[in-house]
Amino acid sequence: MTDLAVLNCRQLVTLAGPPGPRSGLAMRDLAIIPDGALRIRDGYIAAVGTRGEIESALGAQTEVIDAGGRIVLPGFVDAHTHPVFAGNRAAEFERRVEGATYAEIAASGGGIRATVRLTREASADDLLAAANRYAHWFLRGGTTTIEAKSGYGLSLESELQILRTIRQLAAVSRVRCVPTFLGAHEVPDEYRGRVHDYIDLVIHEMLPLVVRENLAEYCDIFCEPNVFPLDEARTVLRAAKALGLGLRLHADQFSADYGSLLAAELGAATADHLESSTHAALEALQQTGVQPVLLPASVYHLGSTRYPAARRMIELGLPVVLATDFNPGSSPTASMPLVLSLAATQMKMTPAEAITAATVNAAHSLRRGHLIGSLEPAKAADFAIHDCDDYRELPYFFGRDTAHAVYLAGRCVYRGNP
Ligand code: NIG
Ligand code: FE
Repeated sequence: MTDLAVLNCRQLVTLAGPPGPRSGLAMRDLAIIPDGALRIRDGYIAAVGTRGEIESALGAQTEVIDAGGRIVLPGFVDAHTHPVFAGNRAAEFERRVEGATYAEIAASGGGIRATVRLTREASADDLLAAANRYAHWFLRGGTTTIEAKSGYGLSLESELQILRTIRQLAAVSRVRCVPTFLGAHEVPDEYRGRVHDYIDLVIHEMLPLVVRENLAEYCDIFCEPNVFPLDEARTVLRAAKALGLGLRLHADQFSADYGSLLAAELGAATADHLESSTHAALEALQQTGVQPVLLPASVYHLGSTRYPAARRMIELGLPVVLATDFNPGSSPTASMPLVLSLAATQMKMTPAEAITAATVNAAHSLRRGHLIGSLEPAKAADFAIHDCDDYRELPYFFGRDTAHAVYLAGRCVYRGNP
């Protein structure tokens, strides 16, 4: 039995509270314990309290982790990432800076399809090595769980390979991974103009094998009129749901109410992006219990100013989630602290609301609310010691990797520079 105590936390940001995702004013309550401490047994949190309470109950065998007067938070839960791909798109980024749009580049064969070509050519070892490198970037920002999508293979063989790589990543990288099948991310080169044939492949060949090998918990799709239109998206998502997968959708990224209403209709877990959603669509999400996942780093990196209406969502009572959307095209960042900063400055979420969205709300969106996302007894000891005096410094000192040390199930998985 391992027995640990974390002492000397200037702020222990527990996010303890009622079960379930937080909405409205509850998003501002971080349940902070000043000079707090944790007791950990066998990778799970055994007790949470003030330093005095925890210290007085220590046994002779208890190993002490001294947080050095820093702040301690639950590990961030990044509920939307695309971490398995080959190469990158820095050259395309330069073209965008010079005026080409994301849509123009995609239409001319670049974008997602360019990454697909490279990913199909890469060996399994190279894909895992690249993903493992990125996993380290997540840890550096204090993230301990990622939702990880396939979607850069777009053939039966390559999509399965990517999902197996995600499974291996969870084993070797020390980051928890929740896998999502995104076979309908784009129509690959060999199916151009034949979207229905590609959808048949996704439904009749890919999905059954993904489910048989238990390679994914969720199914996602990129809803856009010129990628997967709503009727086609509905067909894919219904098939996935019938096989027992949960649903997450790339919705309303560029086109108004394009995917959010479908998410509501199908009872999806999340609708992600929502840069182009109307008030009516947000109400539909609220009424059907779909959580919005906001991805401000992709808005920033695409050079847009159309951020999702986070304030309106919070006013409507939606349990907002924040994520990086880490991917080589629209959001090449794995930094949750940067996302918190963008949420504050661009979407006017308070630092506390942003932290709630990146921890406990994200955990619930992945059906992991019982295990991660807050520091409470019986939950996994996934936490980060951040080199700050106050939680508000996380979004305030922007562009900096704040994690001093990161722990997964009570084990140190990352140590930053002193
Ligand atoms: O969430 N929009 C679709 N998928 C990604 C971008 C993928 C890419 O450009 O490689 C997104 O923004
Ligand atoms: Fe995405």
